[in-house]
Amino acid sequence: MHIAFAASECVPFSKTGGLADVIGALPPALASLGFKVTVFLPRYRQTKLDNPQTVIPSITVPFDDRYRFCSLLDGGVRSGVQFYFIEYPPYFDREGLYGTPLGDYHDNAERFALFCRAVLEAAKIVGTPDLFHCHDWQTALIPILLKTLYHDDPAFSRTPCILTIHNLGYQGLFPPEILPLLMLPWDLFTMSKLEFYGKVNFLKGAISMADFITTVSKKYSQEIQTAEYGFGLEGVLRARGSTISGILNAVDYVSWNPQADQYVAAPYSADDLIGKAVCKADLLKEFGLAQDTQVPVVGIVSRFAAQKGFDLIQQVADRLALEDLIMVVLGSGDRAYEEMFRRLNKQYPQKFALKIAYDNALAHKIEAGSDMFLMPSHYEPCGLNQIYSMRYGTIPVVRATGGLDDTVEQFDPRTLKGTGFKFREYSGETMLETLRVAIKVYRGDQKAWQALMRNGMAQAYSWTNSAREYAKVYERVRQMKAAT
Ligand code: ADP
Ligand code: GLC
Repeated sequence: MHIAFAASECVPFSKTGGLADVIGALPPALASLGFKVTVFLPRYRQTKLDNPQTVIPSITVPFDDRYRFCSLLDGGVRSGVQFYFIEYPPYFDREGLYGTPLGDYHDNAERFALFCRAVLEAAKIVGTPDLFHCHDWQTALIPILLKTLYHDDPAFSRTPCILTIHNLGYQGLFPPEILPLLMLPWDLFTMSKLEFYGKVNFLKGAISMADFITTVSKKYSQEIQTAEYGFGLEGVLRARGSTISGILNAVDYVSWNPQADQYVAAPYSADDLIGKAVCKADLLKEFGLAQDTQVPVVGIVSRFAAQKGFDLIQQVADRLALEDLIMVVLGSGDRAYEEMFRRLNKQYPQKFALKIAYDNALAHKIEAGSDMFLMPSHYEPCGLNQIYSMRYGTIPVVRATGGLDDTVEQFDPRTLKGTGFKFREYSGETMLETLRVAIKVYRGDQKAWQALMRNGMAQAYSWTNSAREYAKVYERVRQMKAAT
């Protein structure tokens, strides 16, 4: 079966978050199960590509004011997967993927509409797939186009489309005038299709029109059908309840392996943890912190966005600064959180170490050198860092939501079972209490802590297993389509 992925980011070409990790890892896992997989991506200024060949010099994308002409580049075959890039410099040769720290690009609707149209046109030339698999709002127009403007295209008459929701918090909301500009019919602007409180909502349209929907954990697939986590789309999602499933992301253990990690000071494993102490000392040095390796180090590596729950840190910052811990924070994103962490770092330099950046090498050093990893997310569709942390013997302290709840098992010091510490209530107080419980085990019960580390390090979230789950969905959708 030939699957065509369309996505807005992918490791090693371009990345802002976990979506890129998934698009970099799931297609090769599917290819090793025997699928033919093609991945379509935009070519950004940041896209790392050596000598790509132009395979289609001109693809016409009609817009109401004037037609746009983009091209298709061949990015080559990697791990059995064919990569193609849509090139259109006026839209993609820019500082950021989606915007700047000041906000989203004003023409994101046009940018990703062009991308989706170009993917469909290119697919007809380089090979029509048996199924499209699109991801998040940026590629949400694909199922919409297939069910509307492309409905009568013989190339796609039997081509289903699956939508994976990695994050419902980003929906692609635009003013209604975008429809005529993109030459989309006004009859899409109804409550059962794209209309959402007077705006056009790309993701809502895809939720209504995709043949099947997946999310990146079971828990999140249930949460998004509730008012608390549905971002206003819970009703539409509930209506599709029988065609929604949750498939947990996995981890690329080649890149995230403490035994062979090019970025860390010393290798280590569950059988020999000495290297981890070396990594901790190295991390403290990197941040110019006092070399007291007894004090627990709590790592954070994250996009700074409301989703990630850093307002809980703000709520209890002064008390956190009095605790027996050091926080090491790496991240970038929303100005408000950057400023919050800058303030804390200035006020308590030995308690809140900070680097505002996107830095993969440092992300690895933090995973290896920390004792705990904090993810107090307000919501978390899957979350990858808690899974990396477990492999690095770094104990996750997480809010029990979405994938964090599905992947981290509460530690019980009596039975020595479990992989981390969880809290449910969304409050700074509860987060602080949970950190205190973790610190108590760390300080007071070395045997329990070592068991906890080893439990985490033994976890294996393999992409092959997740790919098998996707394979079942593909088969089911293909049969559904064949029956219609
Ligand atoms: P999300 O996709 O919501 O940002 P995930 O936990 O799924 O969250 O994935 C985040 C990915 O991005 C991880 O691979 C993480 O290591 C990486 N990451 C996030 N922020 C940074 C940063 N500042 N520097 C380096 N890597 C980062
Ligand atoms: C999103 C989510 C994150 C998930 C990632 C990959 O960005 O916020 O929880 O792990 O997508 O699916």
